[in-house]
Amino acid sequence: MRMYDLIMKKRGGGALSAEEIDYMISEYTQNRIPDYQMSAMMMAVYFRGMNEEETAALTMAMARSGDMLDLSAVDGIKVDKHSTGGVGDKTSIALAPMAAACGVKIAKMSGRGLGHTGGTIDKLESFKGFTTGITAEHFISQVNNIGISIMGQTLDIAPADKKLYALRDVTATVDNMSLIASSIMSKKLASGADAIVLDVKTGSGAFMKKEEDAFALAREMTALGKSVGKNMTAIVSDMDQPLGLAVGNALEVKEAIETLQGRGPADFTKLCITLGTYMVMAGGKAGSMEEAESMLREVIENGKALNKLAEFVEAQGGDKRAVYDTSLLPQATIVEEIISEKEGYVNHISCDEIGICSLILGGGRETKESEIDLSVGLVLHKKVGDHVKAGESLAAIHANDRAKLEAARERFLAAYTISDTAPAPSELIKGILR
Ligand code: URA
Repeated sequence: MRMYDLIMKKRGGGALSAEEIDYMISEYTQNRIPDYQMSAMMMAVYFRGMNEEETAALTMAMARSGDMLDLSAVDGIKVDKHSTGGVGDKTSIALAPMAAACGVKIAKMSGRGLGHTGGTIDKLESFKGFTTGITAEHFISQVNNIGISIMGQTLDIAPADKKLYALRDVTATVDNMSLIASSIMSKKLASGADAIVLDVKTGSGAFMKKEEDAFALAREMTALGKSVGKNMTAIVSDMDQPLGLAVGNALEVKEAIETLQGRGPADFTKLCITLGTYMVMAGGKAGSMEEAESMLREVIENGKALNKLAEFVEAQGGDKRAVYDTSLLPQATIVEEIISEKEGYVNHISCDEIGICSLILGGGRETKESEIDLSVGLVLHKKVGDHVKAGESLAAIHANDRAKLEAARERFLAAYTISDTAPAPSELIKGILR
């Protein structure tokens, strides 16, 4: 087999066989196919697409390219959750302890973020001493003992995807449905869970700007998981404005804690309850959706979900006192309000731009080597549909550097569209696929 012939075939619109895809992925992982040939292939795929069989073969080839985590030593049904990501998305930090407090086994692998704010791991490091650099043995025994563990990517999970994703990132070939679906699902399938609940985001802060594309991605990923026997659910949810009110690592952790105390923002709480209901059902812990939902509300009311977060933080070396006293989380030295000059209704918030404000403040990574400032970010006071008076605050900005604060303030004000009339209300949950 020659890579040149495979590129020609795809360039001409042909379908690659499973053997051809296996060959291409295995040789590329072992550095026997150069980046320039793989770049040409990715561009051919970008324009010609891949059919269902090709996408499935690519997913499995990438899943098998490194370690496959064996979770058979964990008793019961293991449930994983994955979000395609967005601004203010701190869902795992509240949802994982909620589901675990209902008896669901949460064995989750998470990554660091490259972009607006950190990923789940970065956010969890707001708890002093917390580590996700644990061994597979620690991970498994922790899930058996307390029902929850989140591990960093210490294993060599889907190395082919790691290499390919880095290449796509610099060759303008990220936003292809088959490539995104196979990239995400290869990592999920190598991580060993029995059931996967996907949160596919759509809107100005998401990969999938258009709702129809988000549904197509959700369909593709659920089909991939089902084809290898996984129990799959995908929720398509709004990312046309930040989720909740907090954007920034420690600020998001604080908001997740407040949500576990029953005083979180309505949209964020609703998303956690919706995703959680499917996780509790997939984990076999409730007989109906109604029962699953009331179990989740109960563990918030009786404090079990908050205590589960504390137990989880402690089991991974973190200072659990911050769960009960959020003043122990990293704090910025400057907190200022961003004042609106206009009166009217918030009609639109350019979600990506709010993420960039957090990045400017130091809350995200521009390159893999960047250090994150966990304390900085924004807490919104006004969201889409809210009325604002001139002189009223739109958000609080948390910073450690005045020049960065001013740059973020300017960008923030430009991201808000304030008009005379209120916009039509928009749904948080756009649809659910099973
Ligand atoms: N996230 C991934 O892991 N892969 C993609 O291709 C896009 C988003």
